[in-house]
Amino acid sequence: MSIIRIDGGRRLYGSVTVHGAKNSVLPIMAASLLACGETVIHNCPNLSDVDAAIQILVHLGCTVNREGEKVYVDSKTLTRSDIPHELMREMRSSVIFLGAILARLGEAVLSMPGGCELGPRPIDLHLSALRAMGAEIDEEGGKIICKAKNLKGCRVNLTFPSVGATENTMLAAAKCSGTTIISNAACEPEIWDLQSYLRRLGIKAHGAGTPIITIEGCGKKGNTEHWVIPDRIVAATYLACAASTGGAVELRGICPGHILTVTETLAEMGCEIKAGIDSIFINAEKPRKAVKPIITKPYPGFPTDAQPPIMAASLTAEGTTVFVENIFENRYRHVAELLRMGADIKTEGRVAIVSGVKKLHGAPITATDLRGGASLVVAALGAESITEISGVAHIDRGYDDIVGVLETLGADILRFE
Ligand code: EPZ
Repeated sequence: MSIIRIDGGRRLYGSVTVHGAKNSVLPIMAASLLACGETVIHNCPNLSDVDAAIQILVHLGCTVNREGEKVYVDSKTLTRSDIPHELMREMRSSVIFLGAILARLGEAVLSMPGGCELGPRPIDLHLSALRAMGAEIDEEGGKIICKAKNLKGCRVNLTFPSVGATENTMLAAAKCSGTTIISNAACEPEIWDLQSYLRRLGIKAHGAGTPIITIEGCGKKGNTEHWVIPDRIVAATYLACAASTGGAVELRGICPGHILTVTETLAEMGCEIKAGIDSIFINAEKPRKAVKPIITKPYPGFPTDAQPPIMAASLTAEGTTVFVENIFENRYRHVAELLRMGADIKTEGRVAIVSGVKKLHGAPITATDLRGGASLVVAALGAESITEISGVAHIDRGYDDIVGVLETLGADILRFE
């Protein structure tokens, strides 16, 4: 089991390039099943969640090769339509493969994705959308058994703008006859990236990034390439690292417009933020101060995934910062670990109240989930003395070489078994 050891209190300086978006490459890997040919995915990060998605593609019968940041997926021949429990368990968001398998093969059997560290993760919106399109879905013995010999385009209204349900509906709609109109769709940038990939397959898709998405099922088969958008949450995390240490860092290869709410919050904290076309420079050398309540919402609101790292950056800001986590029921598991470092945080349901302290001190702590683990790294970088973080496998799901990146910025950080 890896441990990350950080000797904190050093300001971070320098510039890094942010890798491709985990939450974009995963649905695009699922969508590559629709190509019935070879897709070259560029700017693909080296993450354990991506490895899990590759395992699923290979299990289904695809040929997958990886060369650095390029992944080649050939989905000409699919031999299976099921995802077994051991693969579903690896990555909860494997449910995103459901729509594509159903669209391609007319049947799918997945084991029920368990809850996760963030609380129950229901998929009722996914299933009701697919049923509306004509899928027969039984849930028995922990499995989801789907049959859909002829999915039909229709109106699908999502009662909540679920990212995964939007993606599953888009993928099912891409191959069925007729037009599907998704209302109250998620507007995240990753939805837009998925649409641009579907368009490369010749599928008529419009509206991604707005609450109304229209998909005309069709699409040619064949080979294509796609360049994945940069990871906005990794960018937010590295900005939080700069803020937590009072450093000055430049992030390159990003879309500043994807994290406006995060940079506005950091600017309100007292950080100097300069955005270029594909870069952001943050100077956090001035003392930080508390900001107005940070309330997580669906995009373009403040992203739930940035809540833990930005909370970590607020721990030594002067004053009281209130967080309201509206997206997941149980997304404060990192708080107990931050308290061990001397943070002053009180949580009550969806609310967390952070009272700034002068300094944090190092401690042995454990990552409980992906972004919670990232928040521990952010806090440890700004703390005095040494912090050892276990449960690093959680962090590896979404951050490509976080130790190497932070070392480049001057952190005293190492990883050992
Ligand atoms: C995606 O998860 C992301 N994961 C999450 O990132 C992100 O936090 C989330 O969207 C919100 O932005 C991937 O893209 C792989 P949702 P997803 O469906 O699709 C409820 C990370 O750290 N809901 O928008 O699972 C659900 O319980 C991860 O990178 C239903 O009730 O999120 C949750 O409370 C964490 N019924 C809320 O909606 C459903 O059928 C948001 O879920 C589906 C969801």
